[in-house]
Amino acid sequence: MIQRETWGSRIGLILAVAGNAIGLGNFLRFPVQAAENGGGAFMIPYMISLFLLGIPLLWIEWALGRYGSARGHGTAVAVFDYLWKSPIAKYIGFLGIMIPLAVVVYYTYIESWTLLYSFFGLIGGLPSTPLTDNVKDYLQPFQQFFVEKIGATGEGIFLHPSPETYLFFVITLAVNIYILYRGISAGIEKVAKFAMPLIFVMAIILMVRVFTLSSPDGRNFLDGLGFLWNPDFSALLDPMVWLAAAGQVFFTLSVGFGAILTYASYLKPKDDIALNGLAGASVNEFAEIILGGSIAITASVIFFGIPATKMIAEQGAFDLGFMALPAIFANIPYGQFFSFIWFLLLFFAGITSSIALSQPAIAFLEDELGWSKKKAVLSIGVFLFLSAHIPIFIRGALDEIDFWVGTLGLVLFALFEAVIFFWIYDPKKAWQELTRDNDIQIPKIFYYIMRYVAPGLLIVILLSWGVQKLPERLSSSDIGVWIARLFLILLIVIGVILIKKAWERRDGRAST
Ligand code: TRP
Repeated sequence: MIQRETWGSRIGLILAVAGNAIGLGNFLRFPVQAAENGGGAFMIPYMISLFLLGIPLLWIEWALGRYGSARGHGTAVAVFDYLWKSPIAKYIGFLGIMIPLAVVVYYTYIESWTLLYSFFGLIGGLPSTPLTDNVKDYLQPFQQFFVEKIGATGEGIFLHPSPETYLFFVITLAVNIYILYRGISAGIEKVAKFAMPLIFVMAIILMVRVFTLSSPDGRNFLDGLGFLWNPDFSALLDPMVWLAAAGQVFFTLSVGFGAILTYASYLKPKDDIALNGLAGASVNEFAEIILGGSIAITASVIFFGIPATKMIAEQGAFDLGFMALPAIFANIPYGQFFSFIWFLLLFFAGITSSIALSQPAIAFLEDELGWSKKKAVLSIGVFLFLSAHIPIFIRGALDEIDFWVGTLGLVLFALFEAVIFFWIYDPKKAWQELTRDNDIQIPKIFYYIMRYVAPGLLIVILLSWGVQKLPERLSSSDIGVWIARLFLILLIVIGVILIKKAWERRDGRAST
């Protein structure tokens, strides 16, 4: 067996894992979800989901990765095949490659917008807008700027992004590919060691600036913080708030994608997972609810008030971060500079996540097909470049891909992880595997959470989502939607072919 790569140091590993988790989700998605779902009303289901779903599944995924590391494999394809003696196990494991790979196709594109915006902030090229009473008028130039850049004006199947948008996408993808090519410790880990401290410094600068904002009619940061932190128990009975909270916990921790599994597979076989996993999660939660919760959403409540903030969040995933916040900064001294920092922060948060999303596919090509790093990374690079043209140019495709893999797929995959480990494999052996060689002890209560509570909740989530969202989804038959679906089907076909090939190769080797 060829020697697999490993992490260089523990601090490097934790920063890489935190970089994996801390992403656009912490600074863009969390504030929008919180605002849409009632601020303080959202935080209670969020905390409960973190404890009952997020942390237990995170630990499961770490354990599966370490299990693979001891056997020279870094994806769920091989790990599921070990744990479950069924010929279909490996194909189900393919979800742990396909989900992150399909997500990174559009994630990298969004990430490139943040680089584009930070560039415009730096050269002072973002719109400016006079203060008006009407929030819609006030945000209008920023909306227009956004729509023009990504080319969402007009009708028809095709989007018409501006040339600079396309250029920044190519640059962003090239940087991603270069880091991946350098490998685990010289690429991913090194970037995390540089980017993570920078992310914290930039976020704290922005947080302090936001805390010193006030509106003409007297709102200040306490109003902003109160929106998120005054508990509101009324929403606890609303299942949609629970779904949103659980979805956000998964997304932000990167759980249920297969990417944590791959990162954990670069541990040494006897390394700790309990403390590493918890440390990564803690850093992520700090970045999410303290930093992520104190910038865009707080600024917006101070400037526009709570009802308008909710309205902005409901308008779209990008309105708060790409429109409201730069519009607010446009009215303070050195505003473009603060926008520059904000978008650069997003870029660094994004890139340490997008490299993590790409790594499972690379690990698969290296581990299971014996490809060299160069061949694996270049192939994934070409694949990502070509595929990205779908969300870049086809209207509706980004949303559609995000729904199947980024919303539904991860819940399904997380369920498979828990069930294969704690039901099909063997609950006792699973618990042993999970709790061996750790630096902290995982409390026994998590055994019950992992075996019963988490899978049960996941099934409830899947069913209610299915009932709520699937009929509406399936009824859409736009061409863009169909192109996105064909793309996902193609991905499955390629996956099945490659897995077949890998297993033939394995059997061939075993018999000689
Ligand atoms: N957690 C990342 C964020 O908050 C996004 C993400 C989801 C991710 N799944 C992932 C990143 C898997 C890396 C790997 O933005």
